[in-house]
Amino acid sequence: MAAPEIRRIGVVGLGAMGAGIAQLAIEAGYETVGREVTDELGSKARDRVAHFLQRKVDKEQMTEAVRETALASLSLTTDLADLGGCDLVIEAIVEDLGPKLELFGELDRIVRPDTILATNTSALSVTEIAAASSSPQRVVGMHFFNPAPLMPLVEIVRAELSSDEAVDAAFAVGARLGKRPIRCHDTPGFVVNRVLIPLLNDCLRVLDESRVSPEDLDTAMTAGAGWPMGPCTLLDLVGIDVHVHASEALYEKLREPRMAPPPRIVAMKNAGLIGRKSGRGFYRYD
Ligand code: CAA
Repeated sequence: MAAPEIRRIGVVGLGAMGAGIAQLAIEAGYETVGREVTDELGSKARDRVAHFLQRKVDKEQMTEAVRETALASLSLTTDLADLGGCDLVIEAIVEDLGPKLELFGELDRIVRPDTILATNTSALSVTEIAAASSSPQRVVGMHFFNPAPLMPLVEIVRAELSSDEAVDAAFAVGARLGKRPIRCHDTPGFVVNRVLIPLLNDCLRVLDESRVSPEDLDTAMTAGAGWPMGPCTLLDLVGIDVHVHASEALYEKLREPRMAPPPRIVAMKNAGLIGRKSGRGFYRYD
């Protein structure tokens, strides 16, 4: 089936990633419907987007009129049925297979037959998620990086049954969002996480092995390896819970010891020290 012209984008889940994706969509001129489970969470996401667009206005990177037009093109809902008119729906909910399967099954009944369904999963199999849809050919991965409005890459992931039309349409949307899309297949971790997850886990092992402080490890990797931010700062940004979950998912599939999350970070997760969003991870945030 030919892919539809993409005018209206739905984003399901407006956490840090979903809100960032919705921001990109409205900045690129798409009518955007954001769905959260409560009105409060939806408003929080809109405030976040409004804040970052205001910063652009403050820095004269955007006019007030453009900001207002962009914000007016974002509508919020708690009702999945309101995504019925979308040409593309991007899922950015919790990284658990069960809820994702349930969501894709429901979306299947709500959207038009030609609507493209994309998942922003970072470590789950797009093919497994697509199996919840009666038209798995319309399902692809669109994997954005954190923070989505700033990181240029989007991985366009072809699952076993994805159609060329769906992959090409997602690629074109990625480009229109101002990203540098790449095409890849549905292998564990796709491209970046296949490399970055074990690398971050190595960084964590070095913390214990060389008894370096998180501050000094961050300095080592920024000043000595040219990373834009150190590994501990990055893990606090991404979320220690997100990293542990992704490490476990990739370890389960690949059985490579370096993929397994080191005990130190699992303990941090269990203690609720999950980074910026909880106010404390390797560092404290007020
Ligand atoms: N959303 C939207 N806008 C944001 C934002 C966010 N989360 N964070 C910052 N901004 C805006 C702000 O308005 C900010 O300007 P002000 O501070 O004046 O308000 C503006 O962007 C610039 O922000 P920074 O000064 O912080 O930008 P920077 O030049 O220092 O770069 C960075 C920040 C791009 C994040 C850079 O530090 C970087 O590249 N870090 C590495 C990040 C990385 O590796 N991400 C990948 C993580 S792995 C992943 O995501 C995979 C996965 O599956 C989990």
